[in-house]
Parts: sequence; structure tokens; C-alpha cells
Amino acid sequence: MDRYAVVGNPIAHSKSPIIHQLFAEQTGQSLTYDKILVELTAFDEEVASFFALGGKGLNVTVPFKEQAYRYADTRTERGRLAGAVNTLALQNDGTVLGDNTDGAGLVADLLALGWQLTGKRILILGAGGAVRGIVGPLLEQQAQSLLIANRTVGKAAAIAQIFPAGAVGVSGYAELSGSFDLVINGTSASLSGELPPLPTGLVSADSAAYDLMYGAEPTAFLRWAAEQGVGQSADGLGMLVEQAAEAFYLWRGVRPETRPVLAKLRAMIAAA
Ligand code: ATR
Repeated sequence: MDRYAVVGNPIAHSKSPIIHQLFAEQTGQSLTYDKILVELTAFDEEVASFFALGGKGLNVTVPFKEQAYRYADTRTERGRLAGAVNTLALQNDGTVLGDNTDGAGLVADLLALGWQLTGKRILILGAGGAVRGIVGPLLEQQAQSLLIANRTVGKAAAIAQIFPAGAVGVSGYAELSGSFDLVINGTSASLSGELPPLPTGLVSADSAAYDLMYGAEPTAFLRWAAEQGVGQSADGLGMLVEQAAEAFYLWRGVRPETRPVLAKLRAMIAAA
């Protein structure tokens, strides 16, 4: 049976095995999918041994996405723009292809939520690895404007530089003004219940808020968005399922239906 796995550190709480097992059942694909805890210094060695033993593909999570980018023999264009890959796929010629499906996963989730992106004003909070992966796919949706705000403005500027001049704006938090149709939280602050210091008036009842993070309870960012009166909001669980579906498609050539899997996962998290 074809073998797949997710590698990371930590990895115990990864939902990827459940998601891929549900995809495999739904599409009648025969495969196994494990999670592998990799020591911080052992990434290349572990990945090489996984493929040497017949493994077909890996998902890669924190903190190894940049290392996986360097490990890959070739990369997709979106992987190259992201500078990090979350998916490795063994090719017929024995080489390993690196892809980044995070941004495509985000866009797929936003569209599945019925949120139009074309012509919209989008604000992204944060400028870490997670944000670098989503900018290219968001730009392809022809938003009216895309602005990255970050505590360290230079990091936002470094991401903007990767893209054509003028395509991506850059700001600190205090200087933010105007209103946005969609605000995406890509800072890790939410994880510790913190929020960047955001001015009021950035969102209205016509706006939507999306957190790349997810949890059983609304994140600090989504609570802020609700207090500010946003019309719609969602956490990143849908993106997790959609990025997995993109990886599954790359490996198996079959597109699973994502929404029933998302509903099951949401129920499992709520019951946990
Ligand atoms: P990831 O790969 O998950 O994006 P990262 O590269 O460490 O992680 O980036 C974390 C992001 O969260 C950064 O944008 C960081 O801001 P800085 O670049 O200024 O460090 C942001 N972040 C983390 N904690 C924060 C906090 N308490 N307030 C504001 N921003 C925070």
C-alpha cells in the first residue's frame, strides 16, 4: 500500500492523518498515512529514509517547511514564491517535488465560504512564514488591494518585495487606517490569546474576518472581530482541510470533497 505521512515537531495533535484517511475512504484510494515526530536536527535524514523505504509523499509542518523547501529537488511556482513547502511528492523519476498548498487551501476555503475576493480590499496581519505562503494565491484572485501589516514592518516589506512592485502594500499596526472587506490574521499572537494593537474602524458589518489559526473556541482575533461588528468570520480549520485536499490531489490525482470532511472534523474538535 502507498505510504504517506506528516512530519513535524511537535506532531501529536496533527489532524492530517484523520483528514487523509477520510479522503482515502471517500475516494476509494488505498493508502496509509502516519504522523512522524522528527528531531529538530534530523529532518533530512528522516525524510531521505522515508522515501528510501518506499514512501510516496509527506506533509511537512512546523518547524520544517523551509528545510523541506531546501530538501526538494524541484519546486512548484507557488512553493518557490512561498519560500517554504508543506508537501513533498516522490516523482516517477525518483526526484522529490516540493509544493506549498497552504495559500491555495486558504483561497479554496474563502471561496467555499462564499466570500468574494475579486475587487476587495484585503488586510493581512503578520509577516511570518504562514503569511508568505498565502500572498501569491490571494493576489491571483484580483483583489483591489492587499496590505500586510506587521509589528516588524521590515518583515512585511521583505514579503512585498517578492511580488511585482505596487501589488502588496506594507504598514505598521498604529498607522493602519481606512476599512477593509477582509482581514486575515496570520500572526501567531492568537495562540497565546494576544492581539496586535489594532486601531478601531478597520472593519464593519460588511467585512469578513479570517484567522489562519483554529481551536475549539473562537481565537482572540475572532473575538476582537466580533466586538468590532464584522458580518462574517471563520477560523483556519477549513484551510487545514483544503490544503490537505490540494496535497492529496498532487499525490493521487483525485480531488476529494472537502466540506463533509470539514464538518466531521469540526464535530470531533467540539466533542474533544
Ligand atoms: P509563522 O511561520 O507561524 O508565521 P513566525 O514566522 O514566527 O511564525 O511569525 C509570527 C508572526 O506573528 C509574525 O508576524 C510576528 O510579528 P513580528 O514579525 O513582528 O515578530 C507575529 N506576532 C507574534 N506574536 C505577536 C504579538 N504578541 N503581537 C503582534 N505580533 C505578533
